[in-house]
Amino acid sequence: MKKFFSIIFGFSLGIITMFNTGAQVLDIKKQDDPILREISTEVTNFDEQLEMLIDDMSDTMKESKGVGIAAPQVGKKLRVFLVEYDGEITEYVNPTITVRKGEQTSIEGCLSVPNIFGKVIRPKYIRGKAFDKYGEEFEFEAEGDEARIICHEYDHLEGKLFTDFAIKTLTNKQIITTMAITIIGTIVLGLIIGYFASPYVIAFFN
Ligand code: NI
Repeated sequence: MKKFFSIIFGFSLGIITMFNTGAQVLDIKKQDDPILREISTEVTNFDEQLEMLIDDMSDTMKESKGVGIAAPQVGKKLRVFLVEYDGEITEYVNPTITVRKGEQTSIEGCLSVPNIFGKVIRPKYIRGKAFDKYGEEFEFEAEGDEARIICHEYDHLEGKLFTDFAIKTLTNKQIITTMAITIIGTIVLGLIIGYFASPYVIAFFN
């Protein structure tokens, strides 16, 4: 029995070691923190420290269930952000967006602005360049949701928040209330239609 537990203990320890990269979940700066209003500076050293920051940002984003995170949000005034799209996380270091085309309107939220959502107009298609954590330059193009997330994160590097230019913002509570009204309204309307339509329905099946 003792041996059995030793094996289980050793196994668990092994698994924990395998998955523990040493990265940590960082505190997310909120709305009124001045760092979110500053213009971030270019990364010049593609070193271990940058790699660690990116790992920590990745863990922080996953833990907060976000689809993007920018360095200023974790208190680092650096031109770095991560975007999760289609189950893949891409890091953008010193990014530039060179082409913005079209228009799309969608609801956005931000880890630094909890419980507030807003309708924001973004380009439909973007193209640009960035570096990965090893200093390798790459080109990117994105459309739809991915383009929207990249633009949102890019704004963080410029000290902008989506609430600055959202057409309309709603709180969590307002969204839930709106949804509840819509659902109740649909049910009530369905019942009313059902009530008046029932004689015809019965007649039809007879
Ligand atoms: Ni954000």
